[in-house]
Amino acid sequence: MSQSAEPMLLDHNYDGIQEYDNPTPGWWWMLFHATVVFSIVYFLFFQFSPDSWTLKDAYNASVVVDLRKQFAEIGELKADEATIVKYSTDKKWLEVGRNTFATNCVSCHGRDGEGVVGPNMTDDAYKNVKTITDIATVITNGAANGAMPAWKNRLHPNEVVLTASYIASLRGKNLPSARPVEGDVIPPWPKGN
Ligand code: HEC
Repeated sequence: MSQSAEPMLLDHNYDGIQEYDNPTPGWWWMLFHATVVFSIVYFLFFQFSPDSWTLKDAYNASVVVDLRKQFAEIGELKADEATIVKYSTDKKWLEVGRNTFATNCVSCHGRDGEGVVGPNMTDDAYKNVKTITDIATVITNGAANGAMPAWKNRLHPNEVVLTASYIASLRGKNLPSARPVEGDVIPPWPKGN
């Protein structure tokens, strides 16, 4: 801010020291208001936006990035019965499936697979799944003319298998769902060795 020609002198005087009544500069107010606006946006985003994240989410995401680097350790997984069953109880690798699901599938399937647009996957009834390998097939190719999208071009083959294992692991939780029971009750998954 430019100073006026005759700045106003304040009327106090301490040991001969006096001060002018200069206004706070414009850039200072701009910064101040910007921080206030930022804090409101920040608060609303992290409290209410579904796109916000917590420290725990950020941590889990970086764990998964790290696990992906370790895919070399398990090689390319086959989407067969033994593999999907095996990883459905593997805590470490299930984390990749859980995170893939959290990133891509919750909007239609619910945070815990309880069903929103897509069916409840925590009960014993399935629409497109008769055996455990069908889960990977549905994820790969989609279903119902794209209402369930195909993921083969968007996910690493290991992510398909590990997400199938994760979905298999949701069975039996029988979470309350907005969806009716859909499809047929199918036999339990085969047991792992
Ligand atoms: C755009 C919404 C949408 C997204 C995103 C989506 N799905 Fe689906 N999914 C559906 C719908 C709808 C169905 C039911 C299809 C039908 O009616 O046959 C379904 C069905 C399924 C089934 C078969 C369930 C059954 O009972 O037969 C599996 C498994 C599945 N989805 C897994 C996934 C996975 C894993 C992801 C994320 C990688 C995902 N879905 C993302 C909408 C979606």
